[in-house]
Amino acid sequence: MTARYDALPLPVSPLALGTWAMAGGQLWGPQDEADSIATIHAALDAGITLIDTAPGYGGGLSEEITGRALRDRRDRALIATKVGGSHLAYADAIASCEASLRRLQTDCIDLLQIHWCPPGSPLEETIAAFEKLRDDGKVRALGVSNCGPQTLARLHAKGTGWVTNQLAYNLLWRAIEFDIVDACADTGLGILCYSPLAQALLTGRFKSAAEVPDGRNRTRHFKSGSALARHGESGHEELTFVTIERIRVIADGLGQPMADVALAWLLHQRGVTSVIFGARTPAQVAANLRAAELKLDAATLKALDAATQELKSALGPNADMWNSETRIV
Ligand SMILES: NC(=O)c1ccc[n+]([C@@H]2O[C@H](COP(=O)([O-])OP(=O)(O)OC[C@H]3O[C@@H](n4cnc5c(N)ncnc54)[C@H](OP(=O)(O)O)[C@@H]3O)[C@@H](O)[C@H]2O)c1
Repeated sequence: MTARYDALPLPVSPLALGTWAMAGGQLWGPQDEADSIATIHAALDAGITLIDTAPGYGGGLSEEITGRALRDRRDRALIATKVGGSHLAYADAIASCEASLRRLQTDCIDLLQIHWCPPGSPLEETIAAFEKLRDDGKVRALGVSNCGPQTLARLHAKGTGWVTNQLAYNLLWRAIEFDIVDACADTGLGILCYSPLAQALLTGRFKSAAEVPDGRNRTRHFKSGSALARHGESGHEELTFVTIERIRVIADGLGQPMADVALAWLLHQRGVTSVIFGARTPAQVAANLRAAELKLDAATLKALDAATQELKSALGPNADMWNSETRIV
């Protein structure tokens, strides 16, 4: 689906580029800024319009790199950024957006999203702040991220013109299918999928849980106890790797790389507006772009559904990849 939101100057591309990993650091490891900028340019040159970032990615570094990359090509990109879950009070949200505008070297953010809205957040204040920023011309469109049915109902009651909900969604993480996909449809929000490659698990790069680095083995697929894990669960490591192998067999049968099949699968799912993949090199962008051309027939979609159902059931409806006590309500 190619979505065009009225407030945006360009269509939203079905594949979008995420820039979290470009911040490097403890979670992602070293990253060269020249590679990041070349990656963003490669994405734009290939027709990707939407570039996703956040103040929380490297304490603003991802936004700064995005700003530098877009300095002479701002008109070719839609910038999506966020306001973090601890800045949702009215004045904080305004200040966060103003700081993002400076780091991004732009006078208008195309899509401003509430990054997380945990229970107890002052959502009505945040809505007022976001609408003020839009009325002042500092933001074009408004979105949320990591929001479940209860929050979407509050948003729907108060807000107007909200367009997207950015959520974790991939073949190894189907939690949003339990009730959030329906809630997005009911409130008219398109879904922006994040971590579509399960942070590279769906590239087939890792053969076992032991190979997955600490920045990525902190999701609820993995047992708690690694350096950066925040949940206290026993995880589903064996089932996760059995599921990856099942997907690989299906991809091999199609003669396609598993990553392409994983991205293409998302583009076939209900309610999905755009799939935000992370990439750190132009080669990864080029590889991932192939997925937009890949059409999966009904039998393949059924086989992928069957291959991943057991893991979906084991992980359950908590759509928070990192925490047992979900912040997504
Ligand atoms: N709203 C939220 O709360 C939230 C949360 C998470 C992410 N996001 C957004 O979603 C974006 C994407 O999610 P993500 O980065 O977590 O996960 P992802 O897209 O599933 O995985 C990205 C990683 O996969 C690897 N990769 C990508 N393409 C590849 C290819 N063709 N071949 C081999 N490896 C490939 C790269 O790993 P290497 O770097 O090791 O090469 C890359 O860093 C983020 O950048 C961010 O914008 C939002």
